Amino acid sequence: MTTQTKFSIPILDLKAQYQTIKSEVMSAVESVFESQYFILGKEGISLEETLAPYCQAKFAIGCASGSDALLIALMAIDIKPGDEVITTPFTFFATGGSVSRLGAKPVFVDIDPDTFNLDPRLIEEKITERTRAIIPVHLFGQCAEMNEILAIAKCHNLAVIEDAAQAIGSEYYGKRAGSMGLINTLSFFPSKNLGAAGDAGMMLTNDPDLAEKLQVLRVHGGKPKYYYKMLGCNSRLDELQAAVLRVKFNYLESWTKKRQENAARYDQLFADYKLTEQVKTPKVLPYCRHIFHQYTIRAPKRDQLMAYLKENGVGTEIYYPLSLHQQDCFAYLGQQTGSLPHSEQAAQEVLSLPVYPELTSEQQDYVVSIVAKFYAQK
Ligand SMILES: Cc1ncc(COP(=O)(O)O)c(C=O)c1O
Repeated sequence: MTTQTKFSIPILDLKAQYQTIKSEVMSAVESVFESQYFILGKEGISLEETLAPYCQAKFAIGCASGSDALLIALMAIDIKPGDEVITTPFTFFATGGSVSRLGAKPVFVDIDPDTFNLDPRLIEEKITERTRAIIPVHLFGQCAEMNEILAIAKCHNLAVIEDAAQAIGSEYYGKRAGSMGLINTLSFFPSKNLGAAGDAGMMLTNDPDLAEKLQVLRVHGGKPKYYYKMLGCNSRLDELQAAVLRVKFNYLESWTKKRQENAARYDQLFADYKLTEQVKTPKVLPYCRHIFHQYTIRAPKRDQLMAYLKENGVGTEIYYPLSLHQQDCFAYLGQQTGSLPHSEQAAQEVLSLPVYPELTSEQQDYVVSIVAKFYAQK
């Protein structure tokens, strides 16, 4: 390994990405301004028509964010106060938060420590007569065990909503994330593999009646316009976001490939530096296409390692530092600390490293060399 000078490597470098697509993005944005048509126009429809087949779903319905996509999906299946929805505690807040916002109860089930995803073996014991749905999250870009989850759901007559916010283009036995549940959701938060220039999200379904309902719910529940049979919300994916996303979509597969190559290079570097005793690298299931939204390791002395990497110019992030059942706003659920040990432990150990497409092999070598230095001195 070569000796490196000090680098400055952020967890994600969106400026580097922007430089490669700047003229295309700006001309797409300009054409929306020229049209002066900003809400529910041809850009949004075109994006929906592009992403539905990409995700192997029949229908795609844009909305204002990944959080709204979850909320509207739950509204579409009539989740109400008193209902229970099973989900993972090791995820971004919106997954559990959307359930609570409708007055329903999120029931957190522990994760498989190898993949960080909902452990299907633990689901059935949490099913009650009030359980209505399961929301698996395809965390970090690898699908949850959907065969088992779908089989349990079928057996107990539950709806499945895939939270595919982090998993666009990922596959499970050849099936795309977003194609397997009843309604499935995407986020285009700027840091996602396909990121907008602001907030945006999408719902996916194969059911024509649900597709129609989702379309109505995102416009306050009105159909025809100004006549309301149900209560919806205002949640549209606007034309500017759709135009930016359409440009970026053309690069998504090549960016995904680069992320996968970077992940494989990290695996190799951690082995070369003989760090695999200390650091646990991500486990990729042989039947999954992992799209590496994050490359997340488990590391002893995680917080010190993170600080050391920062001192040496390397940005990292903790996704997520506190399991959802331990959040103050979910204390009323009564799921005590100690009840979901794998999720709690993951929150203590995980560290996501830069894996963005523009990352160079030299930068990766530097990142791992700093990790090696840290463990050598401790
Ligand atoms: C797993 C997961 N679910 C839901 C969301 C919510 O998406 P958004 O930030 O677009 O509202 C995100 C992203 O932030 C996420 O990572």
